[in-house]
Amino acid sequence: MKVPSLTHGPAVGGSPAGPGPASGSSAAPEPAPAAFPPGFVFGAATSAYQIEGAVQEDGRGASIWDALVQRRPQLARPHPPAIACDHYHRYREDVALARALGLKAYRFSIAWPRVLPEGRGAVNTRGLDFYRRLVDRLLDAGIEPVPTLFHWDLPQALQREGGFLRRGVADDFAHYTGTVLRALGDRVNRWITLNEPWEFAFLGHGLGWHAPGQRRPWNFLKLIHHQLLAHARAVEVIRVAAPQAQVGITLSQTPIHPARPGHAADTAAAAFGNDFFNRATLDPLFRGRYPDRLWQRFAWFRPQVQVGDMARIATPLDFIGINNYQRERVRAAPWLPLLRAWLEPDASIGPEARTAMGWEIHPEGMHEVLTWLRTDYGNPPVIVTENGAAFDDVLHNGAVDDPRRIDYLRRYLAQVARALGEGCDVRGYYVWSLLDNFEWQEGFTKRFGLVHVDYPTQQRTVKASGWWYRDFIAQATAPARQAHLARPSP
Ligand code: FCB
Repeated sequence: MKVPSLTHGPAVGGSPAGPGPASGSSAAPEPAPAAFPPGFVFGAATSAYQIEGAVQEDGRGASIWDALVQRRPQLARPHPPAIACDHYHRYREDVALARALGLKAYRFSIAWPRVLPEGRGAVNTRGLDFYRRLVDRLLDAGIEPVPTLFHWDLPQALQREGGFLRRGVADDFAHYTGTVLRALGDRVNRWITLNEPWEFAFLGHGLGWHAPGQRRPWNFLKLIHHQLLAHARAVEVIRVAAPQAQVGITLSQTPIHPARPGHAADTAAAAFGNDFFNRATLDPLFRGRYPDRLWQRFAWFRPQVQVGDMARIATPLDFIGINNYQRERVRAAPWLPLLRAWLEPDASIGPEARTAMGWEIHPEGMHEVLTWLRTDYGNPPVIVTENGAAFDDVLHNGAVDDPRRIDYLRRYLAQVARALGEGCDVRGYYVWSLLDNFEWQEGFTKRFGLVHVDYPTQQRTVKASGWWYRDFIAQATAPARQAHLARPSP
């Protein structure tokens, strides 16, 4: 989750408990590769707008991100997202890199405006062909393709009609999903409908940092509801078109703790924060209702929930994708409308415990999130669809030494292993990201990749963390170990 820091502004506020902090020790064991069961899938993730470039090629329509970058030209300096990592032309090389790292799965996203330049209507076959070629290449390389259908790049044509504020966008998304499934349904076995509905709703429409750049926080619940409806419709389409496939959704989940531990107002604010950040999507998906406190707080700004909506949204999924990076601390701020709280970083945490994004490195938070899925939401199959860190990597003599990223990954993987040991049903883990890429409102200044990209030359260099991950995957999935684990105990 990317959320406002103190310098940027407001956050949340409220009353009692959400998925609270997991109790118990915060011991961080080394992630013994042996802790991961046979069949556990290690991968990496990217998204279309962040890497593809070629925004005007082969009939692609404009997306809301193209429109935002046009309005904020600083996002295109010194390198334009219209070129990004030029993945559209270099996908063969990028798949080869994924293979060299030993990835077993690759999560990417499909650009809706490449497939349907106007959002609906005429299909752009050349756009679909790109994803066909990409998927075939991945399959040939022995890598499971895991497409996300929507990672924030809505066709601008649909935005002109109101975008996700319009309930009918769910029908458009269902139509788009059907179009993609007709092209790829025979070769993709795992689909993710949406990426991080919270961020799309709040960063894009509440704070205006992301496309479409609106500052209307009161629309939050409407945007969540319409996204979840779109998700539900897409699940229905996929289940008919590809009954063998697994379908899930990706949510960011972030532990929300009181800024002043034990302080009653902050504790209440953190509980509301959990509803706002985490349960606003988990509760409708798993329980068929929005959290009561959130529903009350947004009393004047509720979406229209029609008969049958909640049942559709709560249709059981095959897995749930979780993105986790950090934790947040919340301080009560009763004077702030609606949310009634701020996010307040812990001033005692130095730069050594933060990434280049300023995000707190808090591996125990990964365990906390996986634990509340087990204890509060029925222990669904989980894939960690994003986890990783930005650091100020430097290419030196043809190599990138990034020990802090290795340490970050090692410590977060240890917490995944710990959760597995306690019975959490985690099935996979994908690093964000395969490549350095366009980090939304940060432009190309933040490097999350296992692979360094020199933007002017488009030269790729595997970082030390990439080779470390390759070795980790190799050990964790070694056939001898897998055979041993698979043997029934005497
Ligand atoms: C997530 C986004 C992803 C990337 C990472 C750092 O919120 O899903 O696209 O920007 O953060």
